Amino acid sequence: MSIEFTKSEPTNKLERYQTIVEQINALIDPNCSWVANYANVCAAIQQYFNHWWCGFYLVNPENKLELGPFQGPVACTLISYNKGICGASWAKKETIIVPNVHEFEGHIACSSESNSEIVVPIIQNNTVIGVLDIDSIQFNQFDEIDKEYLEKLMKMVAQIRVNF
Ligand code: SME
Repeated sequence: MSIEFTKSEPTNKLERYQTIVEQINALIDPNCSWVANYANVCAAIQQYFNHWWCGFYLVNPENKLELGPFQGPVACTLISYNKGICGASWAKKETIIVPNVHEFEGHIACSSESNSEIVVPIIQNNTVIGVLDIDSIQFNQFDEIDKEYLEKLMKMVAQIRVNF
């Protein structure tokens, strides 16, 4: 009788994040462009979570958040400092969890389908160089586990130099 060793798919949020953290460590390729690396990071998150929208906005030379690699429906391309949830995360240098986006003053609605959101800043030498933005159709989708692991991931992403 043979015993099959099958690597089980992670079932809960914590296991999924632990798998992604391991994968991303191996996935980030210093010989590739930031676009390739950022694209793979949001693809890895989507592979395990299948969020409504998951992607990056990066601070461009005009000092605006400009749409970067993402997965999901088309999105707004430029966001000003302190505008929307992304701009607020940039200004505060903090992760922002919004259980109901319709109650967030100044929320920028790229899609009417999104109901909750988490935005995590990417900080290089104490400067925000961009944000990771994730949207969900569910209300109240994001919690402290998302914050902890996405911040861990963004520390890894912050090693990648972005050039416009
Ligand atoms: N809702 C974001 C804008 C970006 S989209 O959700 C992809 C905000 O308020 O900053």
